[in-house]
Amino acid sequence: MVHERNARLWKRALLVGAGLKPPGARNATPEDIPALGELLSNAFLGTTDDSGQVETQYGSKAVAIVGGRYGEWIPAASWVYEQTGSLRSACLVCDYKPYGCPVIAIVATTPSHQRLGHGGTLVDAALRSLAALGYRECCAMISVGNEPSERLFASRGFLPKPDCL
Ligand SMILES: CC(C)(COP(=O)(O)OP(=O)(O)OC[C@H]1O[C@@H](n2cnc3c(N)ncnc32)[C@H](O)[C@@H]1OP(=O)(O)O)[C@@H](O)C(=O)NCCC(=O)NCCS
Repeated sequence: MVHERNARLWKRALLVGAGLKPPGARNATPEDIPALGELLSNAFLGTTDDSGQVETQYGSKAVAIVGGRYGEWIPAASWVYEQTGSLRSACLVCDYKPYGCPVIAIVATTPSHQRLGHGGTLVDAALRSLAALGYRECCAMISVGNEPSERLFASRGFLPKPDCL
């Protein structure tokens, strides 16, 4: 998540290309904010990033991202997998100027659907969308020790910048 302490900045270059909608996914919208609060609350529970936040606090985080507190939100590069009344997975991207490129502010998958490829597919979609929008780099701030997240981003070609702890 953006702005976590004891986190490292991971970056990768983007290849020129066209965006492609993953089957079953759609772009995130501001109307997703309540469902994002629920998704994030479930996904982060018990992880290294869990410091006891409740669903309303995760909802506020979603409001902050969508509202541009971490740089302009990029809905065209932000993707979700929806299921009836809730979200299975989400990847939100914003253009956080201090990092010099767009940042994947959040990627999360509800626990019952993890390790099924959703998070990776949405990150891939975000990267393709950013490339299609003309961006040349993307980054993510990942808490040290968040192994699922570190592995996910490493598998997508991101490398940690050791000087950014
Ligand atoms: C990180 C997270 C988004 C991964 O979502 P997911 O939908 O399970 O991801 P995928 O199934 O697409 O996995 C892609 C790759 O990530 C890595 N990965 C995902 N979960 C992992 C785990 N529990 N342990 C180790 N590696 C993991 C693997 O390399 C995996 O590829 P593989 O299954 O072929 O080995 C999910 O674990 C999550 O929501 N975590 C809590 C929220 C969080 O910490 N988000 C990141 C910071 S914003």
